[in-house]
Amino acid sequence: MWINLPDHKITNDRSVKPPQNSRQQWRRIRAVLEEKSLQRKRLGIRRITVLRVVDNLSRAFAMFLRMVRLYESGYQNAERKVVQYIDLHFSNLPEAFASYKILHLTDLHLDFVAGTGERISRRIKKLHCDLCVLTGDYRKGMKGRFDQILEPMKKIVNALDAKDGILAVLGNHDTFRMADAFEQMGITVLTNETFTISRGNQKISVTGLDDPHFYYTEHASHALAESIDGFKIVIVHTPELYDFAAQNGYQFYLCGHTHGGQICLPGGIPVVTHLYRGKRFYKGLWQYNGMKGYTNQGCGVIGIPVRFNTQSEITLITLHNGDPPQPVKAKEGLL
Ligand SMILES: [Fe+2]
Repeated sequence: MWINLPDHKITNDRSVKPPQNSRQQWRRIRAVLEEKSLQRKRLGIRRITVLRVVDNLSRAFAMFLRMVRLYESGYQNAERKVVQYIDLHFSNLPEAFASYKILHLTDLHLDFVAGTGERISRRIKKLHCDLCVLTGDYRKGMKGRFDQILEPMKKIVNALDAKDGILAVLGNHDTFRMADAFEQMGITVLTNETFTISRGNQKISVTGLDDPHFYYTEHASHALAESIDGFKIVIVHTPELYDFAAQNGYQFYLCGHTHGGQICLPGGIPVVTHLYRGKRFYKGLWQYNGMKGYTNQGCGVIGIPVRFNTQSEITLITLHNGDPPQPVKAKEGLL
């Protein structure tokens, strides 16, 4: 059921004074939403419902896959972590950031299939990047404990070779309590905040928003509106704020959440996207009003540990200055 919140005003007007966005305030709002199982969205607030029927359907579908002998191939496909290499050109990328490499990991769901953290660590060990970004959904459940994911997260952090560090945002499976634990590992968690990276006197910025699928607040819109001009990237759990980011002059939007559909029909046609808006941006490279976007298929799985017509991906993006010599193509390969 939808409950309208009269004070829940969304604005893109820069003249409106933004609310204070201290970590303490964010934590307080997130805690209430998590505790009461409420999801806040652009149009209001409603109760998060995890239907038992979905669990039962998943179990029945897993049984069906075993009966028709497809389960094992789907499982092997999900376990294979494919490294996706992507080159993107931007006309206003500062020259000092030419060939800047961003490693993008998302939807790890580290406690769903045992050993996921170890497998990811082994893959990323050979990859060198300037910056690593993590776009949420680190655990399986949406409630309760999260300490079980901390050891595999540490393994991933130790395997990373990222000069400018690791930036993270939270997803709809995550709890606000993860932020402190991640920061103790050396991960910078962005909760509707902007991080600036300098090379000499040139800069780019990365704005990280809290999950808009369940935990949208006006702080996310204000973080977008407040950011300074220049080359700016936004990292968000889902593509659902694509239009707000484009309106605020962002050049690049990085996200995940959809798993690319995880179990798709032939041709990669998804049965479900788990998006309320921006459904056409459920997978891969996309563009909106001059802003480029990438929706990563995710490194883990959820529901049933299988993938069909999708892949578990680790993405290494190289930013280039200027126009592309030819149409942008993604290439893929296994380490
Ligand atoms: Fe998610």
